[in-house]
Amino acid sequence: MNIKDLLNQMTIQEKLGQMTQLPPHMFIEASKTTVYGDMRDLELKKQEYLLAGSVLGIKDADEMIRVQNIILKHSRLKIPALFMADIIHGYETIFPIPLAQAASFNPNLTKEMNAIAAVESSTAGIHVTFAPMVDLSRDARWGRVMEGYGEDPLLNEKMTKAAVDGYHYGNPKEVGYLASCFKHFAGYGASEAGRDYNTVDMSYERFYNIYQPSYQMAIDAGSEMCMLAFNTFNGIPATINRKLTQEILKKQMGFDGVIISDFDALHQTVAHGAARDDERAAELGLHAGLMIEMGSSTYLTYGKKLLNAGKITLKQIDDAVYKILALKEHLGLFDDPYKGASTSREKTLVRSEKHLNAAKDLSLESPVLLKNNGVLPLNKMKKIALVGPFSKSQALLGAWRWHGQSSQNQTYAQTLSKVLTLVSVSKSYDVSHIKDVDAVILTTGESDYDTGESKSKVGIDIDLQASEAIKTLHKNNIPTIVLVHGGRPLNLTSITAADAILYTWFLGSRHAEVITHILLGNVSPSGKLPMSLPRHVGQYPMSYHDFNTGRPFNPHNSEYTTKYLDLDLTPLYPFGYGLTYGDTAVALISELKNHWDGSSPLTLIFEIENKSNFVIKEVLQIYMNMHPSIPVRPVKKLIHFKKQLLNPFEKVLVEFSISINDLIIYDEDKNQYFDPSTLTLMYGFNSKDTKEIIIDWRPHHDIK
Ligand code: NOJ
Repeated sequence: MNIKDLLNQMTIQEKLGQMTQLPPHMFIEASKTTVYGDMRDLELKKQEYLLAGSVLGIKDADEMIRVQNIILKHSRLKIPALFMADIIHGYETIFPIPLAQAASFNPNLTKEMNAIAAVESSTAGIHVTFAPMVDLSRDARWGRVMEGYGEDPLLNEKMTKAAVDGYHYGNPKEVGYLASCFKHFAGYGASEAGRDYNTVDMSYERFYNIYQPSYQMAIDAGSEMCMLAFNTFNGIPATINRKLTQEILKKQMGFDGVIISDFDALHQTVAHGAARDDERAAELGLHAGLMIEMGSSTYLTYGKKLLNAGKITLKQIDDAVYKILALKEHLGLFDDPYKGASTSREKTLVRSEKHLNAAKDLSLESPVLLKNNGVLPLNKMKKIALVGPFSKSQALLGAWRWHGQSSQNQTYAQTLSKVLTLVSVSKSYDVSHIKDVDAVILTTGESDYDTGESKSKVGIDIDLQASEAIKTLHKNNIPTIVLVHGGRPLNLTSITAADAILYTWFLGSRHAEVITHILLGNVSPSGKLPMSLPRHVGQYPMSYHDFNTGRPFNPHNSEYTTKYLDLDLTPLYPFGYGLTYGDTAVALISELKNHWDGSSPLTLIFEIENKSNFVIKEVLQIYMNMHPSIPVRPVKKLIHFKKQLLNPFEKVLVEFSISINDLIIYDEDKNQYFDPSTLTLMYGFNSKDTKEIIIDWRPHHDIK
């Protein structure tokens, strides 16, 4: 297809239609597709909405084919629509929530999950996923932390790359491939006070060093679309923020794809107080280079008028439409507008046994074991009481589950009763009747309905009744294993008396089976926290990636040092923390000089030892600090990690290559600094318990 020729034949209204995304119920009234937002009556005439260039959300292949037919029938130039949806952690076979995927510290698993999600959703007629969400966040009050990869820039980058690679598995023109739309540009995860949609005000130093890397990684990995954030970014709504879109996203970061708004966000610039009315919103959107407005219709309604008045240019419209048509061409829609959408293949492929088995295998590394007094793994002969609200619950998929149906999930009561003697099962926290058992499994945490978009909250403590129950069991010497369910870090301070604590997150279609395998020791837990767990909600925003300050905390004389009067500064469990059933040790075995000039990489070789007879996986983490440095650096910054499989009593060598890329820090103008200083490399199995290597950094004269 010659896109230029096509563009030349289009009327202004047809072009503005391409720049408009509408939900399927505008075309088929009976459509039950969920729209994540408040759908207003767009007051468009039928002739206008039939010009829409893309459709948001679709039920299945049948509905997609029907809507595509309606659009093609009315399209003078036979331009097919793009179908987009939120395929966040699976289509109908559901995988762990993205935060739990990050906890695996194994990005390869995410790549495999997304490849399966791409197969299922493209068979249902979806072309683009609004994913990955690569908004780094350090605030558990924000409900959408479940949808991202946690608090650390490097982990975010690695997960982003894997996520995009997974969706892009296969050929763009064929079924099995999903184009990706990274979101929400920019800084949505830094909304003030963790309140969804709230203001974001960020220094460029912080943006470049902490928030930008994962967006950049999505671009470098080939993500075709970028969704702008709902929030203001340094005073201007991202949707119409020219500096953000033109200078940063396009020029500085090299993004050359399609830019879409979030749902209704162009219209909402009026509520922000930035645009007088929808007409002005359309004008500002076009000036900022916003190419598709989702769920609102300001372009279709006012675009022509603005053009005639000379307030916008034809070039602004043409540039946007060219990119949208080019994406359709890239995805093969001009050759086959239905591209792989197939009701018959849906039946055999979607939520197939093969995919469900993969959902189990790929979820095994996400749960994080936080405490274990030796009660785990459980012996099959054990007599167990199962209590708490998740005991018989099927609601284990997590938010943003798209077409996943929890009614198809197994419960713990079902999976555990197959392998253990369950003497009692109760949804309540009442433990007064429990006796003659070897252990109690107590399920607690937050409901998945409390997580996701628009689910900000300050109550992140564990239910009082759950902590009382754990204390009672502890007093009665009954071993207690707590399964914590959450889409965010929860405050576990009140339950540390438990004998074992397993953070399960929400693992998707095979949640209960996966946890059962881990409890029994068929698999040793190997997840690590992608966000530190707090002692109190008042600590937010927080991360391990803290700065020293001019008055670091001094436990011996804390007056006038940085601290809280009434709370330990540290997290309850730090970033990168998580136990296995085994016992591991690490030793640096490479000989290092005490100085380095960066002209060749620095090789670090470690020996990791499994001192147990369990098959385990352990994550060796390398952190760094440099001082003096301007700008100042965090006390610890993760620069490498490696997840290693270890057989019983095995010793394995693990090698890292440190390069000057690991030392990069940007100032507010994006200059890099490599001044001579002391480089401290730290290594360990979590961010807190690390050993140091101190190196004199004297950069080679070629390094500026
Ligand atoms: C609003 C959300 O912020 C965004 O992430 C999502 O992709 C759209 N709605 C479409 O559902």
